[in-house]
Amino acid sequence: MATEAELLETAREAMCRAYAPYSKFHVGCALEVEGGAVYVGCNVENAAYPVTSCAERHAIGAAVVAGNRHFTRLVVVSDAEEPVSPCGACRQALAEFAPELEILSVGQSGAVARWSLAALLPERFTMRPERI
Ligand code: THU
Repeated sequence: MATEAELLETAREAMCRAYAPYSKFHVGCALEVEGGAVYVGCNVENAAYPVTSCAERHAIGAAVVAGNRHFTRLVVVSDAEEPVSPCGACRQALAEFAPELEILSVGQSGAVARWSLAALLPERFTMRPERI
């Protein structure tokens, strides 16, 4: 199992590959799943701004397409001084698979924030979960 420091380094490497020429706001993340595999994501922007996708959503997709839906930890980094939390849409996307996901975010200042996804997104939307 990766240490937090290793997950953080992995997220930072992903952030270096962010494509963010419009916002100039770079985000990277490392999403760990049961068994210890780690999937990464970075934000990928587009000239048509709404087509932009967040780092978290890329990591979710990478994990799911690899057959892993049991997320255990998410580490997020950006080039902001303070830790950033996943946006509302990404919270909902993460909650689909891991409503109580443990999230760590680290800012460039070194400041650290920790949340449970349940605290960031209480009362998530679910629809007929028994059929999923
Ligand atoms: N962004 C993420 O990658 N994750 C979030 O949770 C929030 C925002 C990206 C999207 C966009 O490329 C840039 O940050 C500024 O919003």
